[in-house]
Parts: sequence; structure tokens; C-alpha cells
Amino acid sequence: MNEGRLRVAVATPLSEELCEWIEAREPRLALIRDQSLLPPMRHPADFGGDPAFRRTPEQEARFDALLADAEVLYGIPDVDPARLARAVEANPALRWVHIMAAGGGGQVNAANLSAEQLERVRFTTSAGVHGGPLAEYAVFGVLAGAKQLPRILDQQRAHHWSGRWMMGQVSEQRVLLLGLGGIGREVARKLSLLGAHVMGVSRHQRPVEHVDEIVSPDRLHEAAGRADAVVSSLPGTAATQGMVDDALLAAMKPGVTIVNVGRGTVIDEPALIRALERGQVGLAVLDVTAVEPLDPESPLWDLPNVLLTPHTAALSESEDRLIAELFADNARRYLDGEPLLNRVNTVEFY
Ligand SMILES: NC(=O)c1ccc[n+]([C@@H]2O[C@H](COP(=O)([O-])OP(=O)(O)OC[C@H]3O[C@@H](n4cnc5c(N)ncnc54)[C@H](OP(=O)(O)O)[C@@H]3O)[C@@H](O)[C@H]2O)c1
Repeated sequence: MNEGRLRVAVATPLSEELCEWIEAREPRLALIRDQSLLPPMRHPADFGGDPAFRRTPEQEARFDALLADAEVLYGIPDVDPARLARAVEANPALRWVHIMAAGGGGQVNAANLSAEQLERVRFTTSAGVHGGPLAEYAVFGVLAGAKQLPRILDQQRAHHWSGRWMMGQVSEQRVLLLGLGGIGREVARKLSLLGAHVMGVSRHQRPVEHVDEIVSPDRLHEAAGRADAVVSSLPGTAATQGMVDDALLAAMKPGVTIVNVGRGTVIDEPALIRALERGQVGLAVLDVTAVEPLDPESPLWDLPNVLLTPHTAALSESEDRLIAELFADNARRYLDGEPLLNRVNTVEFY
């Protein structure tokens, strides 16, 4: 019955309904799956699944056999780079792995694949599907900074009816975006609807819709000095590591708002903490930290001008469906010999 169809092993939890939906959308695919071999999801986009889930040795062997018998993997098995390496090694016919994360390049990097394997297998990420919820979170962060949310909460808790004070208006502000990918472009669209002047750092000089000013990386410090808020949606790579450091923070406007929805490693955390303590940064709104979970001893937990969320701002009801749609579209491209969307850059790994 699967004769002649592209064999895709479902390596990560995916509802039967979405498996059937993908096959209906692209009938040239056969999704090879055995739900009993996949951990139950606790919530949408729970690709790691229930940590209590264990396969018996016999189930492990069947899972390996299923992964070895496909040209494509839907997801990294057990979201484990070591298991990905094993699957690539054991299956010379493997040609494409689609990764559930937007920042899946890091997982490919961690698998330590050989040059031959990176050449043979194409990797794609789910970059772009998180644009909606993360852009909304970024707008929330920029607004929280403009309206001075920590001060509002403090005064209210203290029952203190102060004199009037002026709140910032996003429509009169400049926002600098670090990262103009799927997330950054949606942040730009939403902020421009609020009337903000949007600046975006890019290594290319191409215009980007809703970005009023494209800033080349060598002008980063100058642009940061004009921004009321900085939003990072950069991936974690060697080049972005610690990009927001002491010098960049010092170049920013005093009281600036910083929002991070990309990868925590982009911000030098000790430098950020120092800048928060002296008020150089007015508010940091962080969905991600350099090491996750954040160390319980980190000062970030207790600083009054920090809002922290546990890498959860992207999660939405629609994430599984959006990834399935992206995959079905890419599978059509694969079968028609067209370039795949969201190929992992296997030099910088993002
Ligand atoms: N908080 C969460 O739950 C969550 C959810 C999804 C994603 N993320 C993170 O967000 C990241 C971005 O997601 P996305 O969907 O927007 O990915 P994307 O579409 O791949 O965009 C990445 C952007 O970063 C830019 N970039 C990479 N390295 C750069 C550098 N050194 N200097 C300047 N720009 C650089 C890329 O520019 P080029 O045009 O030069 O390639 C591209 O515009 C992911 O990698 C992931 O780490 C977090």
C-alpha cells in the first residue's frame, strides 16, 4: 500500500489526526508510525513527551528498525542529538530530517555528524511557525517597558497614589530588532502597526517589509544608542554568542527595554545583570536564558526590573498544525526537486 511513496518515519510525537492530514495533503507520502513507540504529549508541541515514558528493549529495537527504514524523519528521535547521530549512521538511505524546533541547527551541531553525513542528509527547521506568539510577546515586552510595568506594580502594591508621570508611547519610540528571520519580521509588522520606528540589524542590505531602517552589523552600536527598546530573535550560534555585551549595553539609551525571544546565549548575562542593577537597562523581558533552566541562584529571578518566562512564549494551540503544514509544503518541494525551505546552515548551525 506504501509502494512508491516517500517513506517518512514519524520520530517525534504527532497525533494520528495530523499524520492523516499530512498524507491527505501530500498523497505521495507514507508516514510510517507506531504510536506505541512515541511518548505521549502533555501539551501541544510537547515533542519530548512525557518523561516517564520508557520503551521496552523490544520496543527500542522496533523504533530503531522504523527509523532505519525511511528516507525522511519527521523530528529528531527523542529530541536527542545522540539518537539522531545513531539514526543517520544506521540508515544510509536517509536524506532529510525535519526538526520541530526553530533553532534546530544547535541540535544538528550537537550530533557531531561527519562532513559526508551533513552532505547526504538535508536538515530543515520549523523556523517561522513561532512568529505569531513570539511577536506578540515581544510587543508585550516593549509595551511593558514603555509603560514602566515594574513601577506600576510597585506603586500599586504599596497603595501609593503618586503624582502623575509620563508614560512612553510606542508610537513615538524606536525599536531595534536583532534578527530579521521569521520571528523578527513578524515583530516588525506588529510594532509598525503600533506606529514604532523599526530598525533591524541584518547582514544583508535588502529592504525588509515593515522595517524602516536596515542597520548593518558595523553600525549596531550607533543604532542601539537611538533605540528605546531592543528585541532579539537571534539564534544561538558562535557568531551571536554574547553579542549583547558590556560595550553594547553601555552604548544603549539609559532605561532601554530589552526583550529576548531568540536564544539566551546572545546576551552576556553577567553584563545584563550589571546593566539592570545600575538602571542602564530599565526592563529586561526574557523568555530565554543562557542556561536553561535558569540557575535558582541567578540574580535575574529577583531583580525588580526583570520579567522572566520559562521558554514558553512560543507555545500555542496551533504549533503542531503549523509545523505539519510546513512539513507537507516542504515534502512537496522535496518530491518535485525544488529547494527546501528552512535548510539548516551547516556552517553556522542555525
Ligand atoms: N522562545 C522560543 O520559544 C523560541 C521559539 C522559536 C525560535 N526561537 C529562537 O529564535 C531563533 C530565530 O527564529 P526564527 O524563526 O526567526 O529563525 P530564522 O527565520 O532562521 O531567522 C534567523 C535570523 O537570524 C539572523 N542571523 C543569524 N545569525 C546572525 C548574525 N550573526 N548577525 C545578524 N543576524 C543573524 C538570520 O539572518 P540571515 O538572513 O543572515 O540568515 C535570520 O534573519 C531560533 O533560532 C531559535 O533559537 C525561540
